[in-house]
Amino acid sequence: MRAAIIPGDGIGPEVISAAVRALEAVSSDLEIEEAEMGLGAFQRTGTYLPERTLELLRDVPAALFGAITSPLTYDPTYRSPLLRIRKEFDLYANIRPVRRLNEDIGLVDLDVVIVRENTEGMYTGVERDVEGGVVTERLVTERACERLVDRAVQLSREQGRRKITCVHKSNVLRRSDGLFRKVFYERTEGKGIEANDMLVDAAAAALVSKPQELDVLVTLNLYGDILSDEAAALAGGLGFAPSVNMGDELALFEPTHGSAPDIAGKGIANPTAAILSAAMMLRHLGRGEGAAKLEKAIERTLSLGHRTYDAGGRLGTEAFMKKYLEVLGTL
Ligand code: NAI
Ligand code: MG
Repeated sequence: MRAAIIPGDGIGPEVISAAVRALEAVSSDLEIEEAEMGLGAFQRTGTYLPERTLELLRDVPAALFGAITSPLTYDPTYRSPLLRIRKEFDLYANIRPVRRLNEDIGLVDLDVVIVRENTEGMYTGVERDVEGGVVTERLVTERACERLVDRAVQLSREQGRRKITCVHKSNVLRRSDGLFRKVFYERTEGKGIEANDMLVDAAAAALVSKPQELDVLVTLNLYGDILSDEAAALAGGLGFAPSVNMGDELALFEPTHGSAPDIAGKGIANPTAAILSAAMMLRHLGRGEGAAKLEKAIERTLSLGHRTYDAGGRLGTEAFMKKYLEVLGTL
């Protein structure tokens, strides 16, 4: 089984090399090929997204990506390589499972999956001047809503989740968000799963005040962006938050965090989000058992009290990995 890794910039290579060690400990038949992207790639090769990287991604079912650093000075020609990949491979669903892994980490006992539309909504980038201001176009199509909801239903089934909540703002955006809500009920009806809907402001509050009522949240691009950062913070922070950008041909797995230039090179990055992203990748590749081991070992390592600095502990990446790999070896 082949998969690509793209370490990227900053702490990207630090957390991805940790995740690769974890992968190698549970999956001997994984053939990992490395590719470049980001600011370092630009400095070495003159392009943020080398053609070879695109070719490799066309060739593999899955990739594990670290993070990239945006250009440090304003460059009008810059196009984010991540956005290019999202578009090129039509990675239409951004999926972020958010679960508090230990009771003394984070603030709220969350266990939700956020399924976010990843191709349209407020992110069309189309803005135009009008007298006295600027108008932003926001696109919601039936097809995007359909495949997003179908993906959320499929995920709920695979993971044995009981309820899907459509998060929208159709009291104000009656036609666009109304379309999303309508499609949601059409595509979830008769699927044997509880379906309800919530306004996005109420959902933001519910993540804090009644998290036990939430399970799978399916939502449009901007709402998903905001709610998933909120949820990640409530459950322990960026160091613990994995994700995947899912298309039909390619799935790109990545920790939610960025390249963290403030701690890069210090050896203190929390590798958990990258390891949990790697576990999601293994499950996607049909290696559910290995994935479960990677996840269980994280929980056990945390329950033994081992913590990186971002989680209030005193372990650097290496020291945490040593504990983690010991625990993994016992499973
Ligand atoms: P960031 O996620 O890199 O960092 C935010 C804060 O969280 C920092 O204080 C950082 O030290 C901390 N942090 C993040 N991950 C951590 C980890 N694994 N362990 C311990 N602490 C961690 O976001 P920021 O600072 O806004 O962006 C830095 C760079 O990353 C920018 O160039 C930004 O454009 C880029 N970025 C890239 C993303 C990607 O490649 N998907 C996503 C978000 C930002
Ligand atoms: Mg974000």
